[in-house]
Amino acid sequence: MHNDIKEILFTKQEIDLMVHRIASQINEEFEGEELIAVVILKGSMMFAADLVRCLTVNVKLDFLQASSYGSGTQSSGVINIKKDIDSDISGKNVLLIEDIIDSGNTLSLLKKEMQSRGAKTVKIASLLSKPDRRVVNVEVEYIGTEIPDEFVVGYGLDMDEKYRQMDYIGILKPEVYM
Ligand code: PRP
Repeated sequence: MHNDIKEILFTKQEIDLMVHRIASQINEEFEGEELIAVVILKGSMMFAADLVRCLTVNVKLDFLQASSYGSGTQSSGVINIKKDIDSDISGKNVLLIEDIIDSGNTLSLLKKEMQSRGAKTVKIASLLSKPDRRVVNVEVEYIGTEIPDEFVVGYGLDMDEKYRQMDYIGILKPEVYM
């Protein structure tokens, strides 16, 4: 375990189970249909890579980067689309893939944006959710698990770009970010 980690929240094996469960739900719901999976960079890269490999429905991949300003532990509520998708999503089923929903600002805005571009459906898959932090109500169709309001890193999740490479999700020691 990394020295900056206080406690492992989910092991690789536990994450795998969540990913497979979500994939089964999506495979069932979209059987025979096509899906445009929008990977929301950078945090969801690990989850997205594992999830799409478990999908049996036809998937096209696209990428979008929308980040909140600042490098601290709090989402600002102001987001900026730094890299947009290339696909025309008009009339298509869109699946937004996120690592975590916190305030809900990012997914709320992105869902509306995809809807305004004429997507047939816009669904959200988020591995983690922090319900205690929600500011904007947004429906998340596929969710791995809810977590308490702790600073979690690993499996794509970072603090100042660090810890993304860990294959487990851990709680950061407070002294690391205080
Ligand atoms: C994180 C996460 C979500 C967002 C969730 O991204 O990946 O996109 O914050 O927060 P919200 O619900 O309060 O909007 P971040 O901006 O840290 O960028 P990253 O994915 O590149 O780490």
